[in-house]
Amino acid sequence: MAVTDLVRPDLRFHASWAAAVREFGKDGTTMHGSGLWELDTRDLGRAALATEVERLLAQSHPATELPDGIVRCTYYWIVEGEEFVGYLALRHELNDFLLEEGGHIGYSIRPSRRRQGHAGRAVKLGLAEARDLGLDRVLITCDEDNVASRRTIETNGGVYEDTRGIKRRYWVDLAPA
Ligand SMILES: CC(C)(COP(=O)(O)OP(=O)(O)OC[C@H]1O[C@@H](n2cnc3c(N)ncnc32)[C@H](O)[C@@H]1OP(=O)(O)O)[C@@H](O)C(=O)NCCC(=O)NCCS
Repeated sequence: MAVTDLVRPDLRFHASWAAAVREFGKDGTTMHGSGLWELDTRDLGRAALATEVERLLAQSHPATELPDGIVRCTYYWIVEGEEFVGYLALRHELNDFLLEEGGHIGYSIRPSRRRQGHAGRAVKLGLAEARDLGLDRVLITCDEDNVASRRTIETNGGVYEDTRGIKRRYWVDLAPA
């Protein structure tokens, strides 16, 4: 069975990361949880990635000043061995938008590695990281019609609260039993 790990973004995954970005482009799905809002997908070279990795790592660091509307966030890459398979973002707090729609945790798996259980296992690992961060409950949301994401949340203990717009909102209780 595939093994899923969470690691911090790292240049050593450059080749499989670049292949994954091209796949997302062809597939048309968004790289949720990547934090790569401004990535120019025409340049997926090592230097471009190095700049992005530095920015992503800085966003979790207490000394980094964040732009208005951006909360502190730890970015992880979901990997299997030395291969990049996806993204997971753990936001340390919620602002108004995240409380309504975005939630604490966002994630995506590269199209060719879906349906192999990576998202389910990665979210489980992400919840353990959230607990270590001191969060006692975590909000995770998905689009009403996103069956795979909905299953991912529900199998990880998400308790449905409500739907706002097209977003189903779930809370996962992290308090020790
Ligand atoms: C949603 C997403 C992360 C799921 O990743 P994945 O690695 O394929 O998910 P898993 O293999 O862990 O499967 C999770 C569950 O969804 C089910 N599932 C996966 N793909 C499915 C599909 N296309 N249709 C129906 N069910 C599906 C699996 O059977 C599994 O259910 P189970 O726990 O009952 O067995 C992936 O489809 C993706 O990256 N989508 C685009 C980005 C996105 O939507 N991110 C989530 C934002 S809220």
